[in-house]
Amino acid sequence: MSLKNGGIGLIRGDLRDYKPAHNLSLNERIRNLLSKGKTVYHLAFGESPFPVVKGAQRALKMFVHEKAYEPVAGILSLREAICEYHKINDDLELSVENVLVGPGTKQLIFLLLTIFSGDVFLIAPSWITYKPQCLVCGHNPVVISTSFDTNWKITPEMLNEILSRPVHHGRNKLLIVCNPDNPSGTAYTASELESLSAVFRKHNLLVLSDEIYGRLHHTGNHQCLAKFYPEGTIVSSGISKWAGAGGWRLGYHIYPQQLKAFQTAVMAAASHSYSCASAPIQHAAVECFRNSDDIVEYLLHTRRIIAALSNYCYRELTSVGVKAVKPAGGYYMMPDFEVVRKALNCCGIKTGQAMCDKIFEETCVVLMPAGPDFLRPMEELTVRLCYVNFDGGKALEASHKLGLSEELTDGFLEEHCPLTTGGIQALKNWVSALL
Ligand SMILES: Cc1ncc(COP(=O)(O)O)c(C=O)c1O
Repeated sequence: MSLKNGGIGLIRGDLRDYKPAHNLSLNERIRNLLSKGKTVYHLAFGESPFPVVKGAQRALKMFVHEKAYEPVAGILSLREAICEYHKINDDLELSVENVLVGPGTKQLIFLLLTIFSGDVFLIAPSWITYKPQCLVCGHNPVVISTSFDTNWKITPEMLNEILSRPVHHGRNKLLIVCNPDNPSGTAYTASELESLSAVFRKHNLLVLSDEIYGRLHHTGNHQCLAKFYPEGTIVSSGISKWAGAGGWRLGYHIYPQQLKAFQTAVMAAASHSYSCASAPIQHAAVECFRNSDDIVEYLLHTRRIIAALSNYCYRELTSVGVKAVKPAGGYYMMPDFEVVRKALNCCGIKTGQAMCDKIFEETCVVLMPAGPDFLRPMEELTVRLCYVNFDGGKALEASHKLGLSEELTDGFLEEHCPLTTGGIQALKNWVSALL
């Protein structure tokens, strides 16, 4: 019976409607169009445009012969380098025992959610993967909705109100915070994290602080939550974003000393699922955590390029009345096209998805609606805009040539990031024509 109809009956009842990551399937559709020679302004996929940092590339060649199954938690030299990195940058006193390395943070978050028992809280908007992971791990997450007025951030009051509800009394509670955030690009300041930590402490909250975009804070001013709430924070980070190494699949979690039993259980699940992260990649990744001149330069240049682009996108879109919070880190923003709602209503368009389809049809700009994928309402006209559709290798080279003392002008961006700036101009014209 269950072997019929493509095996649909084999799927857990609550997951019959389970879909693949929407952003990945959308990317496939765009690739198809591009291969047919169409100019597409692909502002919907958030992958680092920059090459993997040179030192790590060289190291990978050197370590290609490494073939052993390594310790589940990760090789010692990498865990030491991660501890040293966080000591220098975040003033954290860590031991290698606190660090768990895995094949990307997606996998580590998944295992954490598999082991965790209690209520999970997500912030809306939220990264596209947290909720589907919760569902497959048997959690029905509580969504805390934020708004443009709080810069898409949670506030202590908002959080306190939700955590104080009787339904959560006496239960374990896990909150996932993304800082800097995907999709909104906002980042929490030190004082915001300090105030939030008082609420975390009051409610004995476990917080998974997803800081994968931390090193891409546009002014290099990322604040690690473990500085403010060390006893209850699990820091999630890796090399996928800032080091341009998403396909290398390497991430890590830092557990607080107090959560040894929980960490041990997650590690046991790691040992029974992925065994260890790829050995050559781990050896090469050590390079990423050295504060070498190479890396410092790479970061200064890549950050200034994305910061300049984010300013450009923000300035141009808001100039025609699109509402947006200025991004502070990462390479996303979440503009709200409410300004064209009336005009869109006239042609029967009432959802973010329908608007994005129309934009694609009329401008060749690809956007994802924030909508339910990012835990926003379907009818909201917010979109996730990724401003990294350009040849990062060439832009990096041009930025080096220019030197750090020179500002990156609009001319620089238009020359080296034409598909991003072109897409923004197309969007701006599209909005203007509707007003
Ligand atoms: C917010 C966020 N967290 C985690 C990840 C996953 O990163 P990794 O490549 O380490 O699995 C991504 C990548 O898309 C992300 O955007």
